[in-house]
Amino acid sequence: MNSSGPGIGLTTVEWQPVDHGRHSGHQANPARVYNYLVGGKDNYLADYEQAQRFLRIAPEIRDTALANRRFLQRAMAELADEGISQFLDIGSGLPTTPNVHEIAQAVNPRARVVYVDNDPIVASHGQARLAVPGTTMISGDLREPDKILAHDEVRRLLDPGQPVAIVLTFILDYLDAKDDPYGVVARLMEWAAPGSCLILSHVTGDFTDETPGDRDWAPLSVSPVTAAPRDHDGIMGFFRGLDLLEPGLVQLPAWRPGIGAKDDPSRVWAYGGVARKP
Ligand SMILES: C[S@@+](CC[C@H](N)C(=O)[O-])C[C@H]1O[C@@H](n2cnc3c(N)ncnc32)[C@H](O)[C@@H]1O
Repeated sequence: MNSSGPGIGLTTVEWQPVDHGRHSGHQANPARVYNYLVGGKDNYLADYEQAQRFLRIAPEIRDTALANRRFLQRAMAELADEGISQFLDIGSGLPTTPNVHEIAQAVNPRARVVYVDNDPIVASHGQARLAVPGTTMISGDLREPDKILAHDEVRRLLDPGQPVAIVLTFILDYLDAKDDPYGVVARLMEWAAPGSCLILSHVTGDFTDETPGDRDWAPLSVSPVTAAPRDHDGIMGFFRGLDLLEPGLVQLPAWRPGIGAKDDPSRVWAYGGVARKP
């Protein structure tokens, strides 16, 4: 970790090879494929093989995923350092080093985190692996924000009268227009107290000159990340009514570089930004 930033002492997310010799017999799962790409341990041979197929076509996928985790680490540490002590991470994914609660609790040991994911595999792993004081994992769908906000665990751990950071990293990519993604974010921020923040990252085509036909994506039956790529203006819409913090909505490595300074911008296809509710 950058020694000049908050959260000193945590390791930076790094990709590590995983021994898949023991695991077989599973079907690839998108959350586990992503977990493999960011160096997690909760993935099997089928996920590794699917990831390798993605990487042969677009090695930038791993760079983008790692840059996303490093952006999240920087943004979390900054907000925890500023005094935010409660976090709602929706579409949290499988446990990864460092996890969101580890980043927050390295700054403030009393920080509380609610993880939410709609993939039952993620929820069951999270319930087993993330059960530490001040932290919980629930099943929930971003498309149903009121159900998430009414969940007993959210009410137990998060005080809606105090600022909260809502973490939506690489998840709005999965919501297309019929899911009312802008309305969903507005509802979450309406619930949150003044002073609350939104940490958001999103895949985009803005940083590549390629056209869809330039690479042969056909061997991949599913998208590795995104259902709804958006451009800068499209992503800015999520911050409506909020004050965007410096340096704004930027390519991930450009958001307050520190850890992540080594990310190669030519291989990162995503934006990140943080905003505060006035
Ligand atoms: C690409 S991963 C991102 C993980 C983590 N947020 C990060 O930035 O590293 C996307 C996660 O969102 C979850 N997800 C996708 N659609 C969702 C939805 N509608 N509600 C809740 N979780 C969702 C997936 O199961 C997956 O774990």
